[in-house]
Amino acid sequence: MARLSVEFSTLALRNPIFSASGTFGHGLEMQHIVPPTLLGGLVSKTVTLKPRPGNPLPRICETEAGFLNSIGLENRGVEAYRRDVLPAMARAGTCVITNIGGEKVEDFEELARILDGEDAIHAFEVNLSCPNVQEGKLPFATDPKMAARVIERVRAATRKPVLAKLSPNVSRLSDLAIAVEAGGAHGITAVNTVLGMKIDWRTRAPGLFTVQGGYSGMAIKPIALRCAWECARSVKIPVMGCGGITCAADVLEFLVAGCSAVQVGTASFSDPATLARLPGELDALLESAGISDVRELIGSLRIPRLPSPSEKVAPAPANTARGPREGVDAANALGGAASS
Ligand SMILES: Cc1cc2nc3c(=O)[nH]c(=O)nc-3n(C[C@H](O)[C@H](O)[C@H](O)COP(=O)(O)O)c2cc1C
Repeated sequence: MARLSVEFSTLALRNPIFSASGTFGHGLEMQHIVPPTLLGGLVSKTVTLKPRPGNPLPRICETEAGFLNSIGLENRGVEAYRRDVLPAMARAGTCVITNIGGEKVEDFEELARILDGEDAIHAFEVNLSCPNVQEGKLPFATDPKMAARVIERVRAATRKPVLAKLSPNVSRLSDLAIAVEAGGAHGITAVNTVLGMKIDWRTRAPGLFTVQGGYSGMAIKPIALRCAWECARSVKIPVMGCGGITCAADVLEFLVAGCSAVQVGTASFSDPATLARLPGELDALLESAGISDVRELIGSLRIPRLPSPSEKVAPAPANTARGPREGVDAANALGGAASS
């Protein structure tokens, strides 16, 4: 068996696999299908100070290649979370990360202060990035100064590790990653959903009541992977990759990109047993590759470089494959000129 345990900041994890916020209840609702002790940990739904009814329906719709949601952080508020959820989470037998959300900087700070004394919680994930509140304006996710301020205030209110969950909906994610690190974050979650929308052209109706919402699932994996890599290369704190992960090979791609752990979200909707299978699949995949410790892969991306003039370049072997691969090779031969 390969070694799957990893460290994430001060957290010692059984393996690098977590459920993603909002896609798995608070975690224990699914324990008949996914025993929590199989996982590196569980991330709760976003908890807010006051109960939130969420956005009007429809707030979930499928698209050709992924999932759109505009749930709007529906939850019963922090007091109900403390009273009804946390006592059971204390017996989960895995790392519990509580995701907190707010509309003002002070909301985040107060949530961290209220929950700081709860032994069931091992760390906080600060949801800076929900696209489904404040009309998708993402004030904390797009402004590095605001993001850093939120993290500073949360840090001041708790002794637990603090992860900043970032949004892919920015032009330079590295600025955000650097800002939250400077604000004192112990780690980064990269990323939340990608802003998207759907339209039924016959009825002219949008797929979501809020018109735009958060796009997730397999289709966003390349975007999420690029975001996670951009974060990992910009900061020293560890990164949790999230977005479009459905299988063990996806997990390993995020680790090679520099992530120390990952979260799995939308895949649990199409197959609720996904998370239960992943640790075993990860072990089998590592064994088949002759890798005895998953940590060997973290940050092991080999960046291609041009040969120096003194290096002799061997001619590339002719490609005899047929099918879509030919188009890819032709585009590569054009030096990427086929795309922008
Ligand atoms: C239905 C749904 C609800 C979500 N709710 C939350 C939430 O409450 N808080 C949060 O930080 N992210 C939330 N997310 C975002 C996910 O945690 C995750 O970042 C995103 O879906 C990308 O991962 P995936 O492609 O594996 O789903 C939600 C996603 C979905 C699909």
